[in-house]
Amino acid sequence: MSKLIIKGPARLEGKVKISGAKNAALAVIVAALLGEGETVLENVPQIGDVLIMTEILDTLGVKVHWPGSDTLRLTVPEGIGHLADYNMVKRLRASNLLLGALLARKGIAEISLPGGCQIGSRPMDLHIKGLTQLGCRISIEHGFIKASRSHMHGARIYLDFPSVGATENIMIAATMAEGQTVLENAAKEPEVVDLASFLNSMGARIRGAGTDVIKIDGVKHLYGTRYSIIPDRIEAGTFMVGAAITGGSIMVENVILTHLKPIIAKLKETGAYIEETDSGIFVAGPEFIRSVDVKTLPYPGFPTDMQSQMMALLSLARGTSLITENVFENRLQLGIELKRMGAKVKVEGRTAIVQGVEKLCGASVKALDLRSGAALVLAGLAAVGISEIQQLEVIDRGYRHMEAKLRSLGADVRRVN
Ligand code: UD1
Repeated sequence: MSKLIIKGPARLEGKVKISGAKNAALAVIVAALLGEGETVLENVPQIGDVLIMTEILDTLGVKVHWPGSDTLRLTVPEGIGHLADYNMVKRLRASNLLLGALLARKGIAEISLPGGCQIGSRPMDLHIKGLTQLGCRISIEHGFIKASRSHMHGARIYLDFPSVGATENIMIAATMAEGQTVLENAAKEPEVVDLASFLNSMGARIRGAGTDVIKIDGVKHLYGTRYSIIPDRIEAGTFMVGAAITGGSIMVENVILTHLKPIIAKLKETGAYIEETDSGIFVAGPEFIRSVDVKTLPYPGFPTDMQSQMMALLSLARGTSLITENVFENRLQLGIELKRMGAKVKVEGRTAIVQGVEKLCGASVKALDLRSGAALVLAGLAAVGISEIQQLEVIDRGYRHMEAKLRSLGADVRRVN
């Protein structure tokens, strides 16, 4: 077990280069299974979750090679396995996408019910409903999802909720179904669009990704390709909050500005100075942080993956903020850890009432899930004294070189194993 020792308060200054998007990379890596031959992916972050996913692909017969630190080469054989290793799948939520990919490519899939961060109940009913409508037979036995199909056909599918995972799973499977699939109330997240662009570069015919209606015309074969993953909007948002919470100023490079609109708007409300430039986005912390209300929603609403970082920021605001979590019910548990640092947070159902305090004090705290871990790092940077963030492995799952990037911005942080 590792921990991060932070000596605060810090003032982050300088520039930081954002890595490829975790959630886009995970989906694209799974989708690469659809195309026999070689796929080369660029801008792939070598983070814990990506390494687990490549290990899973390795067990399915894919040759995995990193020719560069963020370039991944996957050589997909004609015959791939259909049984995903229990011990790895249970560690990673995104492994549920193997279902759609293996059904499309092999016609049969067996995966254990996926794990991932404990941020809510995270059911898979929408994935299963959609795949069943495409003609797949799916059953859950002893913690395993067993799925098969003899013939997969296009269908009109309406999602009760615009789930990112269900949209991606159904889109992957429908790519090789016979006829047209129309997916309504689909998720509009940039990672969904990136997956669609990747699949199209393999020969798929997908239109409408990024809107709530996605049309997929099935094709018989897909081929290996070369593709570059989009930058991680959540990593970018995390560093932007880093500038705001420490009263520093950071140039955040390698970003797509439109993906950051909801985060930019909220940070501006807190008083942060933000300038969109050709080389990235410049953020300077406000003189004092204004309290604001935050409601998480599917894209283009405020992302649930940035809610924890905002809670850390607002714990130092002047006034009281209300944070409403509409996507994952357990994500407000961060309040308990922040209180150890002196924050005043009260959670009632899906809402956290955050009463700003003048300062946070260093304390020993634990990263409960990926984003709350990142939020505790931000709080530790702003807090006075020494903070110890335990379970750093949780943060390593989704952030590439977090401590090295923070050190280059002037923070006094070190990892202890
Ligand atoms: C993905 C992201 C995660 C992000 C989330 C929302 C990955 C690997 N993870 O997670 O970082 O926080 O999108 O932007 O890409 N739901 C159901 N039934 C289902 C599926 C989902 O009820 O079959 C519910 C979930 O419990 C949750 C909501 O829908 O309340 C959103 O989940 P979803 O969009 O599916 O998130 P993930 O794909 O798991």
